[in-house]
Formats: sequence, structure tokens, C-alpha cells
Amino acid sequence: MTPPSPKTAEELLEAVLSWPPARALGVTRDTIAKKVEERGSESVGADLTALYQQMRASVLDPYLNCYVPQHWLDARRLLDENDRVLISGGNRSGKSMFSAWWVMHLLAEKPDSRVAVFSMTSASSVRDQQPALWQFMPQEYKNLKRSQVENIRFTQKNGFTDNTFILPNGSQLYALNYAQQSDILEGAELDAIWFDELVPHHWVETGEYRLTTRRASRKTGRMLISATPITGWTPTVNEFVAGAKILETRPAPLLNGAMSVPGCSPGEMPYIADCLKPRSKVIWFHTAMNPWQDPEEFERTLSGESTINIRIRAYGYCEKSTGNWFPKFSKSHVIDPKDIPQEGTNYMCVDPAGSRNWACLWVRVDKAGRMYIYREWPDKETYGEWAIPSDKVEGEMGPAQKPEGRGIGEYKEMFLELEAGEEMEERLIDPRAGGTPAATKEGGQTLIDLMGDEPNEMWFVPAPGLTIEQGIGQINDALNYNVDEPVSIVNEPRLFISSKCGNLIDCMQHISSAAGDKNKFKDFTDVLRYIITHEPSHVDENTYAAVGGGSY
Ligand SMILES: Nc1ncnc2c1ncn2[C@@H]1O[C@H](COP(=O)(O)OP(=O)(O)O)[C@@H](O)[C@H]1O
Ligand SMILES: [Mg+2]
Repeated sequence: MTPPSPKTAEELLEAVLSWPPARALGVTRDTIAKKVEERGSESVGADLTALYQQMRASVLDPYLNCYVPQHWLDARRLLDENDRVLISGGNRSGKSMFSAWWVMHLLAEKPDSRVAVFSMTSASSVRDQQPALWQFMPQEYKNLKRSQVENIRFTQKNGFTDNTFILPNGSQLYALNYAQQSDILEGAELDAIWFDELVPHHWVETGEYRLTTRRASRKTGRMLISATPITGWTPTVNEFVAGAKILETRPAPLLNGAMSVPGCSPGEMPYIADCLKPRSKVIWFHTAMNPWQDPEEFERTLSGESTINIRIRAYGYCEKSTGNWFPKFSKSHVIDPKDIPQEGTNYMCVDPAGSRNWACLWVRVDKAGRMYIYREWPDKETYGEWAIPSDKVEGEMGPAQKPEGRGIGEYKEMFLELEAGEEMEERLIDPRAGGTPAATKEGGQTLIDLMGDEPNEMWFVPAPGLTIEQGIGQINDALNYNVDEPVSIVNEPRLFISSKCGNLIDCMQHISSAAGDKNKFKDFTDVLRYIITHEPSHVDENTYAAVGGGSY
């Protein structure tokens, strides 16, 4: 639809003011009147004509000429630089329109792309998602010749024919929904997936597999999730937001300075964060950033809402409500292996079990008492995930847990091999498992006894048998520092984790009290508890001298 051309100066002004982005560009009746006073009507008229041309172009071909707000540019940059982006946005903040714009650009610019987009149901796909894509269809494809038109056929009533279209460059889009069976993606190699609104976690997992091939071969493989967290904290939100390090914040006037959130100054809300998972980011679209949304109208719909709801609906932000064991844990605690001190006192700790692999961690304590978890076994890179987030909050068992039938002798050999001569000050073991008589042919011997046998005698001591709450408290103390102040010697955590310990990181991010002992993320956090409650310290000659009561 072509807008009618304005004939008078007043009509021109009216037309420009009716274009929502004008407000974002600072154009209002008042600012224009002021400019006319300063510069005369002729020069202002030229500005208005230019704006009118911009508006006209954006309506005629939104694909090429849509007005692009700053938060869209930021989200696009994040999608260029990362494999996964969660847009956690307020209601009507432009999540879906941005995503449709981004998807259409990928399809049109990269020949032979394959992109799947997901909506809640087939009805919402036809009602919301497909029209948004159609709006950003390049103009030249909206009026194709008869021979080509079969490939791109759209009606308001039914969306795209067969819920798909193919561009002349060979790129294809599939419009799907969460009610479908997850095997519909079987075998697909995709350049991108856009999950709109509340995506069940199993789709995220399935999608990830479909993106890996092209991530390597075509430098694509992007996962874009756009949602308002109206149902609160879900496994999908957790995967992105738990432990993420806030990189940028923006003013949040609708909250009137109420309660700041961790990592933000009062009056601000998170904007961009770096996730614990590599190559993953979160961007929070604030509704006020959408120039097509009337701010006063939106403010009215929020009147009387609680702070919690305003955070969700205007800023896309929700907080984990209960059961978060390590609220202080974030990307700031995860460090590059090369930043772990070479010098220090080493300890290791195991949590044995017969029904799964043992979980083991190694820690180095430096002179200042800082603790660095520098190794895990089974490590994520070699053995895969210890546990996997799923639709169930307690997660599912991952490949690294699967017992491989190692005997005690084999465990000991493996430890020595991994340690390659590192000196261990002490070896710790789960106090219950270590002290109970092992069910072996050796009869009443405990696991600790058996580990001490030849060959490769290894002396384990039982870790302190403190309660889970005490252990968690001590870990949080070690993680604690003031996130709102710069990190310095007087304000830094005492516990750091090597980025090579991917399974420990996963466990700390996903553990909660859900399902109690059956929680699949529990084991590595147990090992960490044993280590921290043991209070491992740096040991040098002076320490020995003091303990031994000898002279210095
Ligand atoms: N590029 C655009 N062109 C025209 N209207 C837009 C554009 N982006 C957003 N809007 C308007 O803003 C509204 C909210 O955007 P939408 O992407 O649907 O928000 P969300 O998905 O975050 O709820 C849309 O219904 C539309 O009217
Ligand atoms: Mg939407």
C-alpha cells in the first residue's frame, strides 16, 4: 500500500509524525516548531521531505529500507559473533519483527540456506510468525512471474503454501511449531533456527544437533530464541541466563529505581550478557526501545503491576525464584587454563559410585589462599556431558556418567596418568562412600583400604561430613565478591574454575533442589563441597615447620 503523497506543508508534517520511528528520531510537533524558528521553514521542510522519503521507502520495501533501531543492530551483531542468542524481551519489544527481519536477510543473502522457524502452534505460526516473515520478503519476490510464483505463495489466511517457501537463490524456509513431533527435523542440516516464544527445552537440544554441520562448513548454524519469560524461569532460560555475566545495562525508568538486580546499578536493567555456555549471549529487548510501540499506552497497560511483572513485561527479565544453589556463580569465576598459577598446593577429591562413573576434581591453592579447580574427570571434552538440561528441571543423565566398569586399580592408574607427576598434598573422598565396607571379595575392607593397597598405594582421607547446606554456604562464600565494584585484590572471589571443567560448570549452573538426590547435576557439586569444606590451604616449608613445632 503506497501512502498518499502530502500536498501541503501541514500534510507533510502530519505524514511524518504518523510514522512511529519519527519519535525515536526526535521529531515531534514541538521540536519541528523550534527548528522552524531557528532555521526557517525552508530548511526544515527539506528535512521533513527527506524523512518522508525514508518513511515511504520503508513501507514500500521493508526488507531493504526498514528503519532499524539500535537494539536490532546490537542483536544482529551478537548473531554474527555467536552461535546462540536468546532475546529475552518485554512484551511488544520487537522480538518477533527483528527475528523475521534477520531470518529474511540470511535467506536472501546466503544462497541455499535452510532455516526453520518455530511458533507455539500452527495457528500462531499463520497468524503471527508467517506474516512477519512475509512483511520482510524482498519486494522483487513478492511479485514474481507465474513460473516462479509456485515457490513463494502467501495468503493472509493460510500463510505460506505448505508452510514453506523457496527463494530464487535456492534458500528455503520451513515454518514449524512445538506441537509437532521432534523427528520432523531428522537429518536436516540447518543454517539457522528461530524459536519464537516459550520453546520446550527438548527442541533446543534437537535443534543444536541440526546446526552443527553448517556451523563448521558454512560458518552459520545460528540459534535464535526470542521470548518474553512470562512463565518465569524455565530450563531454557536457565541455560542462557544462569551465571551469565552482564556486559551492558540500560536505564529502566518504569521501575522508578525499585530494587536493583545483581550486576546492575539501581535504576538500570540488564541489556547484554555473556553466557556460561561458550559462543552464547543474551540480549534483553526493553519494550521502550521499540519505536513502533507507543510508550504512554504501554505504561498504562502496566499500571498497578508488581515490580516483578514490570521487570518481565517491560524488560524481559526474570529471576530464578527458588532453589538456586549458587546465585553468586558466574562467568567471572571461569578462567582460561593458562591463567591458573603454576605454583601452588594440589588436592584432589573423588565421589565414587558403582552405578555411574566416579566424579573427580583437582584443585590448586596459591599463596594467597585462592582456589583453582584445574581438572575434572570425566571431562566434558573427552566424555561429553555429565548431565543434560531437559524438560525436567532435574535434568537427564549424560554420556559422561555412564559406568565403564573400571576397577579400583584402573582408577588409580588413570589418576596417576592424568596427574603426570603433580604432587598431591591430600586426596579426599566422599566420607560415606570411602568409609563403608566395600562389597568385594575382600570382605570388610573399606574403599579407603582398597585404594591404599598395592600397586600404586593411594591414601585417601574422608572429606568432612558436613550438611549440604553448610557446604553450599561455604562455596558461596568462596565465590562471593561485590559484582557492582571492579574486581581487585580486596574485592575478588577465592574460587576459580578452569574453562576446561565444563561438567563442573554445567552442574553449578543447573543444580537445584529439584528431585533431591536424583538431581543429575548433583555429583560434581558434591565433590566441590567436599573440597571446600575441607578448607584446603597453601602449604610450604614454613607451614610444615609450624605444624612440626620446629624452629624456623
Ligand atoms: N520494523 C517494523 N515495522 C513496523 N512495525 C513494527 C516493526 N517492528 C515492530 N513493529 C511493531 O511493534 C509491534 C511489536 O513488535 P513484535 O516484534 O511483534 O514484538 P514482540 O514479538 O516482542 O512482542 C508489532 O506488532 C508492530 O506493530
Ligand atoms: Mg512476538
